[in-house]
Order: sequence, then structure tokens, then C-alpha cells
Amino acid sequence: MRAAAFTDLVGPDGVSVVDRPDPEPAQGQAVVDVDACAINRHDLWILDGDSAMVDAADLPFVSGLDVAGVVRAVGDDASVEPGDRVVLCPNETCGVCRFCRDGPENLCAEFSLYHGGLAEQAVVSVDRLVALPDDVDTTTAAALPTAYMTAYHMLRRADVGPGDLVFVPGATGGVGVAGVQLANAMGARTVGTSSSSSKLAQVETLGLDHALEVTDPDTMRSAVADVGEPDAVLNHLGGPYTAVGLDVMRRGGRMLVCGRTAGGTSEIDVPDLFLGHKRVEGSTMGTQRDLERLVDLVSSGTFTPAVAETYPLEETGAAFAAMQDRERVGKLVVTPSA
Ligand SMILES: NC(=O)c1ccc[n+]([C@@H]2O[C@H](COP(=O)([O-])OP(=O)(O)OC[C@H]3O[C@@H](n4cnc5c(N)ncnc54)[C@H](OP(=O)(O)O)[C@@H]3O)[C@@H](O)[C@H]2O)c1
Ligand SMILES: [Zn+2]
Repeated sequence: MRAAAFTDLVGPDGVSVVDRPDPEPAQGQAVVDVDACAINRHDLWILDGDSAMVDAADLPFVSGLDVAGVVRAVGDDASVEPGDRVVLCPNETCGVCRFCRDGPENLCAEFSLYHGGLAEQAVVSVDRLVALPDDVDTTTAAALPTAYMTAYHMLRRADVGPGDLVFVPGATGGVGVAGVQLANAMGARTVGTSSSSSKLAQVETLGLDHALEVTDPDTMRSAVADVGEPDAVLNHLGGPYTAVGLDVMRRGGRMLVCGRTAGGTSEIDVPDLFLGHKRVEGSTMGTQRDLERLVDLVSSGTFTPAVAETYPLEETGAAFAAMQDRERVGKLVVTPSA
């Protein structure tokens, strides 16, 4: 089988298509023919050599978390059958700690992520497969795990409900668009930012209520304040936008943080935090139950994940270049068996 491997950690030019032996499923595993694998900023951090997880000694490295496809073969004790259409929950957990027993599983001390979906076949744990209804296609399903599951988990933890105002700095990428669409589905209003008016116009068609073309933190602060006081902030950018989110949200507001695209540190106003009873929480991925709910919501027509473009396996490097260029709205999906 072919795989799009990272052979050099130099950005999009470091991806090469390589031949690998067809995988065999061990006990509790399945081999999935990968119809679709969405890419995430997480993969690009690795490809840029900016992830503590992968270094030169690990090359060639096959990334890709968000696998959807058809089960090809199963090992013993499999709860799925060849021919089943599935999407993978990329969470990897110990299975025995108190968070694995009682939830939420993404707090597991051994929490890690599946990698290997940027290939024609992926060998996965059957326990992590979610069945797809006939009306959810595999490209749509592949968009869900990392971006939508993460955004959904953050919105749930922020207790977002009808009428709330949710602020999404950087509302045009994977997690950003997911946050807008899912906040909408929860009856909340959204205010989102981008450096691009044309991308914002696209996100408005997906439900963004207040589009702000702004990147400068001070200008952003006053532009959001003109819209209102957000009840919740979905912060995947980190950096200076963390202070902005904290400043603009209402007393008792909640900010969930899942990323650091714009930087790993931020200077915050500590008295504003405590006098305003504001909550800032870190959040990583979500639970398999979140992913199951998302599949149901897609199936029932509540929302359709935004897919910007699909790429054949040999154009995986171009997909990462598109992510780096920041020109597309929604998920970029590689289709290995196309
Ligand atoms: N902890 C977790 O479990 C988890 C899960 C998923 C994602 N994440 C993290 O969340 C972040 C977003 O991931 P993603 O896959 O959604 O990425 P993405 O699709 O590349 O996000 C693109 C968005 O980020 C904005 N952006 C990019 N570079 C920027 C910069 N230097 N300054 C300001 N805005 C910038 C873009 O704004 P423009 O519209 O202006 O281009 C766009 O709105 C990443 O840091 C990722 O690692 C974490
Ligand atoms: Zn555990």
C-alpha cells in the first residue's frame, strides 16, 4: 500500500509517497481502507519540525488522525466486520485509569493520539471505530474527529446555550469554523475574526453572525466590545488573543483554550480575572461520545462540516501548503483510495 510519509521535517516539501507492506490486524484491531483523512494544524506542526512528539529519528513518519473509510480486515475479538463504514476516534487512552473508567476519557494521564491515516490502509483499534449511517459520507465524516470534536467539547465545557454570544478569534480554519457551526447549532450567536474579508464572507454563509476583519489585538478588543460582551470564548490561537478573550468576555464568562497558533504565552490582567469571576480552562480533543453525537447531528441534518477541498494521496504536500497559505475555509481532506 502507499502512504504519504513525512520524510523531512521542512514543511510541505517534506512529504513523499512511499510503499509500505499491507498491514495485518492483530487481536482487537481492524485494517481500514482509508477513503478520507482530514489534515490538521497538528500534522503541520510535526511536518514543520515544531512538535515535541516527532523528531528526525522517527522518519519516515505517517501522520493523519482523522480516518474514515471501510473496514477491510479484522483481528480476533472484533466488534466490526469487513465492509462496515466507519470513522476513527483518534483518542488513545490507557483504558484503566479513573478518567477512562468514569470519564472524561480525554483527561487520561496516558492520553495520546492515533497517527497513520495518510495512507491507503490504516490499522486501528476496533474500540475506537464509530459506525457511519448511510447518509454520512466518508469525506464528511473525516472532517469531524479533531476539529469538530475539539470545538464541540470546548462548547460543552463552556456551558454554551441558546442566546449566548460566543467569540471565536480565527473563525476561518478547522476548529474556528467548527466552533461557529456548532455554537449556531446550540442556538448561540457568534462573533469571529480573520485577516481575510473573503474568508469571513464564506463563514457568514455557514452561520457566523458578526464578522470582524481584524488581527491587531487592541483593535480586536474594541471591535468585539462594539458587538457585545461574549459569554464564552473559543481560543485556538493562544498568544496575545488569550488576553483579548479574557478582557472582552463578560463577568463570569468562560474561555476554553486548545491551541497556540499565534504563540505559547500571553500576558493577562490578573485582577480582571478574579474580580470578574472569569474562567480560563485548557481543553484537548474530546470524547468518543462527542464524536458519536456529532455523527448523529450530521445524519439528522443539524449541520454539515465545511470541507474546503479534497486532495489525492500524491498531493498531500499541496494540502499542507494550502493550510500554510491560509487561503481556504474549512477542512482539507486527503482521499487516499480515490
Ligand atoms: N488541543 C487540541 O486537542 C487541539 C485540537 C485541534 C486543534 N488544536 C490547535 O488549535 C489550533 C487550530 O487548529 P486548526 O487545525 O483549526 O488550524 P487551522 O485550520 O490552520 O486554523 C486556521 C485559523 O487560524 C488563523 N491563523 C493562522 N495563523 C495565524 C496567526 N499567526 N495569527 C493569527 N491567526 C492565525 C487563521 O486566520 P486567517 O483567517 O486570518 O488566516 C484561521 O482562522 C492549532 O494551534 C492546533 O494545534 C488543538
Ligand atoms: Zn486512562
